[in-house]
Amino acid sequence: MEVIILPGNKEVGVLAADAIESLVRKKPRAVLGLATGSSPLPIYDELARRHEEHGLSFSQASGFALDEYVGLPVGHFESYREVIRREFTNRVDVAPENVHGPDGAATDVEAACKAYEEAIKAAGGVDLQILGVGTNGHIGFNEPGSSLASRTRIKTLADQTREDNARFFDSIEAVPHHVLTQGLGTIMDACHLVLVAFGAGKAEAVHDFVEGPVSASCPASILQFHPHATVIIDEAAASKLV
Ligand code: F6R
Repeated sequence: MEVIILPGNKEVGVLAADAIESLVRKKPRAVLGLATGSSPLPIYDELARRHEEHGLSFSQASGFALDEYVGLPVGHFESYREVIRREFTNRVDVAPENVHGPDGAATDVEAACKAYEEAIKAAGGVDLQILGVGTNGHIGFNEPGSSLASRTRIKTLADQTREDNARFFDSIEAVPHHVLTQGLGTIMDACHLVLVAFGAGKAEAVHDFVEGPVSASCPASILQFHPHATVIIDEAAASKLV
């Protein structure tokens, strides 16, 4: 696991965007794993700028979301499908039909999760997976205690995560309790993992997953086992590293 510490979130976004640009230039049909939340926003801003100003094209690329809330109405502003559309894919030239997410409205949840795993496989697997990390060490919504071999499935959000995500909703009561999330095993199948984090609020989690033991109690620590994991963080997020 390579850890790169940069001054701020803008620089973090630029370096992560460099990795994505070099992949897409080498492999136009690249499969991107897309995270939501605030951490990837500087990456999406930078990629949108490069598309606009330098013609960086995603026309043959495809994307798979990491996760989706269960129970939000289709088209809800905070559904991850909408967030990805708004923050990234609508700002570049990814074909809308090439952007996928777990079906948070499915009545047969098990079948929807299985279908999602199969869709990722059929696309040839994820080439580069963007990740953020939760303050409790989750990646995707694999909360502490998640099996290190888990696949896409329904998970109950930890209270901490609902509190952290309440900032995106009108109130904490509006934050769904359940999500569909790629599993840790699913995430580990991606060829390259790029985790970004900034701010002092992430310092503890960063310390735990970079310097602590690999453990289900800190799901992001599984990155230590990945052959190509790049962690790009700002100085505040790195402040508890020894
Ligand atoms: C979102 C996701 C989550 C977030 C994490 C950090 O798709 O998978 O793991 O990356 O909760 O969220 P932010 O970036 O908002 O601090």
